[in-house]
Amino acid sequence: MKALQITELTGPATALQAVELPEPDPAASHPLTPGSGVVIEVHAAGVSFPEVLQTRGEYQLKPPLPFVPGSEVAGVVRSAPDDAPVRAGDRVAALCLLGGFAETAVAPAHLTFALPDALDFAQGAGLVLNSHTAYFSLVTRGRLAPNETVLVHGAAGGVGTATLQVAKGLGATTIAVVSSDAKERVAREAGADEVVRADAGWKDRVKELVPGGVDLVIDPVGGDRFTDSLRCLGEGGRLVVVGFTGGSIPEVKVNRLLLNNTEVVGAGWGAYAMAKPEVNRQIGAEIQRLIEDGFVRPLVGERFPLDRAADALALIDGRGATGKVVLDVRG
Ligand SMILES: NC(=O)c1ccc[n+]([C@@H]2O[C@H](COP(=O)([O-])OP(=O)(O)OC[C@H]3O[C@@H](n4cnc5c(N)ncnc54)[C@H](OP(=O)(O)O)[C@@H]3O)[C@@H](O)[C@H]2O)c1
Repeated sequence: MKALQITELTGPATALQAVELPEPDPAASHPLTPGSGVVIEVHAAGVSFPEVLQTRGEYQLKPPLPFVPGSEVAGVVRSAPDDAPVRAGDRVAALCLLGGFAETAVAPAHLTFALPDALDFAQGAGLVLNSHTAYFSLVTRGRLAPNETVLVHGAAGGVGTATLQVAKGLGATTIAVVSSDAKERVAREAGADEVVRADAGWKDRVKELVPGGVDLVIDPVGGDRFTDSLRCLGEGGRLVVVGFTGGSIPEVKVNRLLLNNTEVVGAGWGAYAMAKPEVNRQIGAEIQRLIEDGFVRPLVGERFPLDRAADALALIDGRGATGKVVLDVRG
């Protein structure tokens, strides 16, 4: 099968090499979930920030070189273990963690979900990681209640757009923080009720919109926005830490938490969910319901053929991506 491997940790432009590899072994133990997996004929592979980091050896998951990156795919099941929720021939979306930049991939059964007819393969390739992270951040960690107000950073990105869609589906009011006109359009398409600009006094604008403060901040960006995010919280508000695309890891002056009875909460979905099949099934069922109700529709941005994966990574690295960046693996 055709695949791309990271052969050296030299960054997005040069780390990937096209190779021919044998088909993956479904019984080969997966890094975090041993046991037999679902073999998927990959039609579309999602590209995300972690793959950019992996080309530099900067992501927490550091497989020995060379390895096939690619954490999520959509395609058709070729074979599945007897106890899997899907069968040969089913259209699926799956989190495979590694191995997605290839014509065939293997995913754990509990992270493989039937792909509803409403979604095509490109949308499926952007479904699991972002929508499950969004639900986990908003509900499991952020304790979102109906009618609460949620501020979403990086709101035109993969996690951001999914967070806006899931939050709207759960009855929240949403405010998006973005850095450009194009990203503002994407955030509105994803369901933002209000949009504020990252480079134009966003904190003051949020305070004008919600004088009492927001209930929840979902933050995949970090960096120098963090303190202003705390200032935007109302009494009892929660700030959920999801990632650090802004480049630096913020520090908290904890007196701010005491003054207004607020919380900073971490949300690390991947490692947590990987070993908990029941959690994945529950979140998967909720996401399925939100798809059926028309709220969750992964927004696909740029699409590239497999052999242009380096351009896909460069787009994300250069902060140019809107919605989900997808590789069309089979043309
Ligand atoms: N905790 C978890 O379980 C979990 C799960 C999935 C992903 N993540 C993390 O969440 C983060 C976001 O992932 P994603 O897939 O949504 O990424 P993405 O699609 O690339 O979006 C990230 C957004 O961050 C903003 N940003 C601000 N400063 C930036 C900078 N210096 N460089 C690049 N982007 C910058 C950009 O929005 P503006 O330009 O509008 O500011 C961009 O749209 C990543 O750190 C990822 O590792 C965490």
